[in-house]
Amino acid sequence: MSAGTAIDRGRLTRLLAEEGAAFAAARPRSRALFDAAQRSLLGGVPMPWMTEWASPHPVYAARAEGSEVWDVDGHRYIDFCLGDTGAMTGHAPATVAQAIAAQVGRGTTTMLPTEDAAAVAEELGRRLGLPFWHFCLTATDANRFAIRLARELTGRPKVLVFNGCYHGTVDEALVQIGADGPVPRPGSIGPPVDPRHTTRVVEWNDPAALEAALAAGDVACVLAEPAMTNIGIIPPEPGYHDQLRRLTRAAGTLLIIDETHTLCAGIGGGTGLYGLDPDFVTLGKPLASGVPAAAYGMSAAVAARISERPSLLKLSDVGGIGGTLAGNALSLAAMRVTLETVLTPEAYRHMLALGAAFAEQVAAVLAEHHVPWHVARVGARVEYGFAPTLPRNGGEALRSEDPELGRFLHLFMLNRGILLTPFHNMALMAPSTTADQVARHTALLVEAVARLWPRA
Ligand SMILES: Cc1ncc(COP(=O)(O)O)c(C=O)c1O
Repeated sequence: MSAGTAIDRGRLTRLLAEEGAAFAAARPRSRALFDAAQRSLLGGVPMPWMTEWASPHPVYAARAEGSEVWDVDGHRYIDFCLGDTGAMTGHAPATVAQAIAAQVGRGTTTMLPTEDAAAVAEELGRRLGLPFWHFCLTATDANRFAIRLARELTGRPKVLVFNGCYHGTVDEALVQIGADGPVPRPGSIGPPVDPRHTTRVVEWNDPAALEAALAAGDVACVLAEPAMTNIGIIPPEPGYHDQLRRLTRAAGTLLIIDETHTLCAGIGGGTGLYGLDPDFVTLGKPLASGVPAAAYGMSAAVAARISERPSLLKLSDVGGIGGTLAGNALSLAAMRVTLETVLTPEAYRHMLALGAAFAEQVAAVLAEHHVPWHVARVGARVEYGFAPTLPRNGGEALRSEDPELGRFLHLFMLNRGILLTPFHNMALMAPSTTADQVARHTALLVEAVARLWPRA
């Protein structure tokens, strides 16, 4: 294998075509279901992003259990995608399945609180350090509601986010750095207003840019992940979070930490890992083992400011915060059993150890074969990217993307029984993930590298 040389692009295109043909030949039933669905589903899928897998058509799932998925053609996959974190708990944990069935039998939604709500809030408070919580259905909603509260409390219009971020379908955050301030991300569908009215966007790990962007005193909140995870994993540089907190406080700007993905960092998420002291924390996805459920927590100081204005608590639904099914009995029951029996300290120890093993094994393959890529990890989440060293920010990460190479690796893995997360080379460890599954991925990576750089 020729060390460190550029990939032969013609060869890559041929390899991708071969993998596409092998995929299609082995999945006639998925193809037939996809074709039949064209009659009633626009684009043949229930959500457009389901066509974004590297394969020529989607794999139709038959069932999923633990860290495995079976498709309708009888193939079995090791699942490192885990529903893009929604199933970080592993699929269908038995305790959750039982608790959900029991709660469905007792009623799913009544517009009345259930005992589970305060139990979940107290547990989230122990883990993430914030004393007061409310619940909703998606992480997007949690972010939207925290932003609304921050705007209301500060009387300021703008939200600051980091280049390359993703926080769900939050209009203010679907932006990137443009020549003259924030512009809608490429592909942003029908952006409602020019984001220069709503948003400031700066590069991650750049305190000077952050300070300048906060200086006008019109930013209600910074919305940030503890480590960026949606443009590859980009950890904070040492001291960056201290600066972020110091600068937001000095500017009277509230800090919203989005833990939706970084709940994989450990039992206290990235907030615990990096010792953060945010005004709000938002989270969703795996919190109820994939049952729609999300939460936003707030500090005692923020809760006091909200409580001083009873109208904020009372009018919330028609005031832009709420949702008929938010805080429903089923999602609360699923959150409670998930926290009490699945995302336990012991499970985290296992997931973090496997995350470390996955990253070490990938790094060893890259080093041994002189592959000029890097590997990054936050807790149980590992990602390899096509820059030779870890990017410092979203702009650098964007410039190192190689969609064709990414598609090849995904399809190569898919054809051999491994699911990586679409759009990323991301692998997540669940409590059910095993060391053998990690080793299988490593062995396949060696094979993929040998295809890309064949021995002369
Ligand atoms: C960091 C982060 N926050 C929020 C969300 C939104 O989650 P949901 O699509 O479940 O609302 C995502 C989705 O990928 C995310 O990555």
